[in-house]
Amino acid sequence: MDSMERLREIVETSDRIVAFTGAGLSAESGIPTYRGAGGLWTKYDPNIYANIDHFLRDPTYYWNFFQEVRYPIISQAQPNPAHDALVELERRKLLKTVITQNIDGLHQMAGSQNVIELHGNTRRIGCMECGKEYSMDEVYGKLQDQLPPRCDCSGGLKPRVVFFGESLPFEALEGANDAVKDCDACLVVGSSLVVYPAAMLPVLASEKGARLAIINIDPTPLDHMAEVVINDSAGDVLHTVVKGGFE
Ligand code: APR
Repeated sequence: MDSMERLREIVETSDRIVAFTGAGLSAESGIPTYRGAGGLWTKYDPNIYANIDHFLRDPTYYWNFFQEVRYPIISQAQPNPAHDALVELERRKLLKTVITQNIDGLHQMAGSQNVIELHGNTRRIGCMECGKEYSMDEVYGKLQDQLPPRCDCSGGLKPRVVFFGESLPFEALEGANDAVKDCDACLVVGSSLVVYPAAMLPVLASEKGARLAIINIDPTPLDHMAEVVINDSAGDVLHTVVKGGFE
């Protein structure tokens, strides 16, 4: 049985699948990944552009990055066949939960119903004083004449994402733990699996006896634990498995 047949067999014989997704799944939507060739963190130092202490000390670095990089890309991004394939698996009641590290909101845009956002969502921006929430578009508008952007109450604004140095939202992490403890298969899609505590989740799934499959262009530190590893593009692989397996 080749690796695609093995992946198809895992998907077809499981009915409590959890997908664990990373930036590689959104790469085919035009959103750059963080690591590897051309990765965002090879151009922008995450200790400056994605670190909570630096943000609180001087938010202008982040907001310039938001205005010049984040917003133009994410505001135009659309789901790709990898997102659509996971929606299809959920519709067929084979996939229970998508646990994503991504902050682009594309799983929900594609139609996934049960999505856990471990690192938040950059489309939602909140006031650090009064908690009022703004959309990405509203804040981009504010940035045209104020840097850093401020709330109507004059409080500072922060995207509802987890910066380095911040802990993950408790409810998200608890929900993700419960999901992987109950799953019968965990599909890792497009993650380098180097950031913790997120990367503990596929390990927990495997330790609980779930079948582990990794779809990622580059090798990952967890490949040795996986029943199948496919180093190919998420969109092609998932589209082929979902279409080919269920005609
Ligand atoms: N299909 C499948 N895999 C791909 C594709 C693709 N089209 N394109 C890239 N990849 C793979 C790369 O080989 C890489 O290993 O996706 C992986 C993306 O890894 P990272 O850029 O490290 O992204 P991710 O694992 O999601 O990072 C985790 O790190 O910076 C933090 O908060 C950030 O959520 C992010 C976390």
